[in-house]
Amino acid sequence: MQIILLLGLVGVAYAVYLIKSIWFTPLRNVPGPFLARFTNIWYLFQVHSGHVERKNCELHETYGPVVRYGPNRYSFNSPEAIKTIYGHSTQFAKSSFYDAFMVPGRWNVFTERNIKFHASLRREYQATFSMSNLVNFEPYVDQCAKLFDQRLHEVSEAGVAIDMGHWLQCYALDVISQITFAERLGTLDSGEDIGGVMKSLEDSFYYGSTVGVYGSIHPYLFAFVSFLDRLSGSGNGQGIGYVIKIAQEKINAYKAKPAAIYQETEDGSEEFVSKFMKQNAANPERFTTNHILNGCAMNIGAGSDTTGISLSAVLYYLLKNPGCMGKLREEIFAFRKEGRLSESPTYKQSQDMPYLQAVLKEALRLHPAVGQPLERVVPEGGATIDGKYFAQGNIVGVSCWAAHRNKAVWGQDADEFKPDRWLITDTDKLSAMNRSWMPFGVGSRTCLGRHISMLEMCKLVPRIIRDFDFELVDGLGAEWKTTAYWFVKPSNFRVRVRTRSTIS
Ligand code: HEM
Repeated sequence: MQIILLLGLVGVAYAVYLIKSIWFTPLRNVPGPFLARFTNIWYLFQVHSGHVERKNCELHETYGPVVRYGPNRYSFNSPEAIKTIYGHSTQFAKSSFYDAFMVPGRWNVFTERNIKFHASLRREYQATFSMSNLVNFEPYVDQCAKLFDQRLHEVSEAGVAIDMGHWLQCYALDVISQITFAERLGTLDSGEDIGGVMKSLEDSFYYGSTVGVYGSIHPYLFAFVSFLDRLSGSGNGQGIGYVIKIAQEKINAYKAKPAAIYQETEDGSEEFVSKFMKQNAANPERFTTNHILNGCAMNIGAGSDTTGISLSAVLYYLLKNPGCMGKLREEIFAFRKEGRLSESPTYKQSQDMPYLQAVLKEALRLHPAVGQPLERVVPEGGATIDGKYFAQGNIVGVSCWAAHRNKAVWGQDADEFKPDRWLITDTDKLSAMNRSWMPFGVGSRTCLGRHISMLEMCKLVPRIIRDFDFELVDGLGAEWKTTAYWFVKPSNFRVRVRTRSTIS
């Protein structure tokens, strides 16, 4: 009897709380799905469905530029909101959503929520990831691009269809491993998921994207899952923990090599781990061994799915739009004829190819790798976003997908693949588009690896379009399938490859 009374009281208290937080809040007029007013379970369900990025776009189509997707979660799609939330010297910290992407108690640049500490970490890593350092990594990318080329020749000879999404991830994973440790993981040799790294990343992104909806339970759930893991004897640790373990093993192996660091190479290449070890040797208190480990693990964790997915998007949209493929080929062949494109295209050469650059930008617009809102917390004192006041503590965010399909910015053809939209001379329009183009995020938390992934793409795309013909197995009319768990990953990007025999 007493228990029933107690449960009744708890129920009444919860109902009062709900009524208060739903009808007596200044944000009650923000539209959105009915259930999302009461509970984050609505959002959790959308994430679990694997299509949250589309739902988010739909919500903005239906309700406009400000949408509720949880009791205190709000999504935006306008350039004004992007500027307010992520702009210069923003005080909007990342939300607890990101906690679920880290091993509890171990910092990493991507998940760090403390603005000051994050800025200090970022300062330590910035130089290594900078544009001027790209030349050190270029020889490594060439090695992997050459191997990828060789695999495609073999596939062409065998006349079989391949899952191009998978192979492009193999390329991205081997490149990032090569430029981090001067050693490929080996995925490009057989297409196998060596050491289960891909599976482990996939698990960790499912875990992060769903558990992140209730980020505060992560430390407990992580401990529980790790305990089960140990009981089952797999010993691999949970998702991201496994990536850290692999990174540590690679660092140990690297250190064991004779005179591993400080070596001058003929081609000017120098891997991340060597650069990190130099930083550590110069100032071990400031750049600790943890910086070395977390920096290397971060490369593997953040640098393979992202680039693999983006390369897939480039090829997919080119295949779906033969006119654009033809135009790109024309540019590539003109460059080759003029002697401006080497056997292994250089990053510098790619920068002179306007249509190639427009294709890359447009593919990253239509299919940004990250599919969920980049959540931030409204800082002390609250903030006015898109003309509406949000009290401190609310969670606000923009999804790249919603921003990239906002018809007010991109026009009625926002859903179409049109690289030419980037080749206009109207500078006002171009800068408006650039303000809403955010595949790498925006502001102080923008992607550290964006130059590296652009390097990988700029070198591979002209090379394979020059050397091969591709055909979609399911035909031009069919759409590919994707699943979004943080990253929006294609699952049936099946392609036939033929070595181009004619030199045109
Ligand atoms: C096309 C490929 C890539 C895409 C589309 C991409 C996308 C993103 C996005 C959207 C963010 C911001 C997330 C947020 O604000 O919540 C981000 C952050 C980050 N990315 Fe990437 N990324 C790519 C490649 C890479 C690569 C190759 C690396 C590493 C080598 C990398 C490392 C990072 C790191 C460390 C952060 C966190 C930065 C910070 O919070 O200061 N990414 N990325």
